[in-house]
Parts: sequence; C-alpha cells; structure tokens
Amino acid sequence: MRLTIQELGEMKRRGESIPMITAYDYTAARLVERAGVRLILVGDSLGQCILGYDSTIPVTMDDIVSHTKAVVRGTKESHVVADMPFMSYKADVRGAVQNAGRMLSEAGAQSVKLEGGRKVTGTVSRIVDAGVPVMGHIGLTPQSIHQLGGYSIQGKTLESARELLNDAVALQNSGVYAIVLELIPSKLAGIITQRLSIPTIGIGSGAECDGQVQVFHDLLGLLPDFRPRHARRYADLDESIVKAISDYTKDVKESSFPDANESYSIDKIVYEALLDETTI
Ligand code: KIV
Repeated sequence: MRLTIQELGEMKRRGESIPMITAYDYTAARLVERAGVRLILVGDSLGQCILGYDSTIPVTMDDIVSHTKAVVRGTKESHVVADMPFMSYKADVRGAVQNAGRMLSEAGAQSVKLEGGRKVTGTVSRIVDAGVPVMGHIGLTPQSIHQLGGYSIQGKTLESARELLNDAVALQNSGVYAIVLELIPSKLAGIITQRLSIPTIGIGSGAECDGQVQVFHDLLGLLPDFRPRHARRYADLDESIVKAISDYTKDVKESSFPDANESYSIDKIVYEALLDETTI
C-alpha cells in the first residue's frame, strides 16, 4: 500500500519528520524506496538534472508523464507526486484540471504539485474537487524565475514574509494536503509550519519544517558543478561513475575485458563444423 496523504497528516500530528526526495526514473525510484523514503517527487527539476535544460521552463506534460510512469513502475509503497510543469495549470482552469487528472490516470501518480500562492487557489480548489490531491509550493518558485529575477531567498522583508504566510493559509484553505517551502528564512518557515495543520516540506528553508525535500542529483553529487548551499552532499557519485567507466574503457583497449567468465561457449562439434565450412 502506498503512503497516503492522510498518513502524511498524521506524521505532522505525531511530530514525525517527513523525508522526501526527487526521482525521475525506474532505477532511481527503486533505490530511493529501498533506502526507506516513501514520498517521491517527480520534479520538473528533471529539466536540468535529466534533460540538460538551464531551467524548468521547457519541461512538458509529456516529459513529466513519461518519467512519472517509470518512477511508479519502480516503487510499490511510495506516494509519487508529479510536478505540474510550466503553463500546464495557469492558462485556464479546465486545462489545469485535465492535466492534473492525466498525472493520476495516465502516469499513475498519487498526487500533483503546483507552484504559486493566492493566485492559484481557485485552480487548486477545482483540481481537489475533481479528486486529485494537490501539494502546494511557495517561496522560490522556479517556474517564475524570470519574474523573480533570480534564484534568491524569498520573504526577507516584513511585507513579503506576510505575503508568504497569507499564501500558505490560503493554499491550506483551498484544500492542499501539504506545502513545499523553497528558499525562505528558517524562522519564517517555522511560523508558517506552526500556523498550518497540514505538513510543510522545506528545501533551503531550515529545520523547522515538518519535512525536507532534496534533489536526487544534489544529494548524490551527480552534477558536481551545481552545489546549492542548502544541499548536503552524501556521496560523490560523479567521481565514482567516471572512474568506473574509465576503468572499463582501459580494459577494452587493453583487451582484458571480456574474459572467459564473461563470455559464452559453443559446443566443440558445432565449432569445428563451422570452422570447416568457413575455411573451405
Ligand atoms: O522540481 C523540483 O525538484 C522541486 C523541488 C525543488 C521541490 O520542485
């Protein structure tokens, strides 16, 4: 049975911290579930981590649907959240409801995430009314990067902090089951977390949130040139992978791969008959 939104709410009430991580494919999803994480985000950060774009903006519905399907195939117990990509929910409410529905019916996700505060609460209510659980996302919202003018900490002034608090409360009232708080000061995240009955999941927003979300590639050191301050690196897989592939390359060049154990034999009679035929 996959983790439910009700169980996430219970985790907040019990004071049990909620770990969440992104995954974009079958293999990564299996690893994440084996490691004990039960809340997985197929984030539009796949734009940078998987597709090599310089932002999340070019990511499409088809991209998220296809990667979500793979993550769902790789998991049995996890709640899989599909990120709604740029322009898939802001142009019109009908399109937003249809796109959100597609994440469940076609991709197999258990819920969707979308960015924005009070400007999206009307759309959120309609999606929730249609039976699709929604996770909110406020603070630094990467799909609005050109409006925000860069990837900087949000909510540092009294006015902007109040706006974020009001956005969080409005999102809760519109029916979201949890909210991602990205790149806001820890103390503001603490106030929002106290004020809400639903869980907050922080990224770059300090330890006072109910849970934390991190990008798979940041935790594992897969993109070494990108090192956000808020991401703790638990491994340097980039180094290990490059070393493994260069060892393989060296072995092929030196003809030490494959050896007899890595090859398959043919019956001696078959081999000799074939040799006779080919030498005639
Ligand atoms: O796309 C993503 O990875 C996200 C997280 C940063 C929350 O939205």
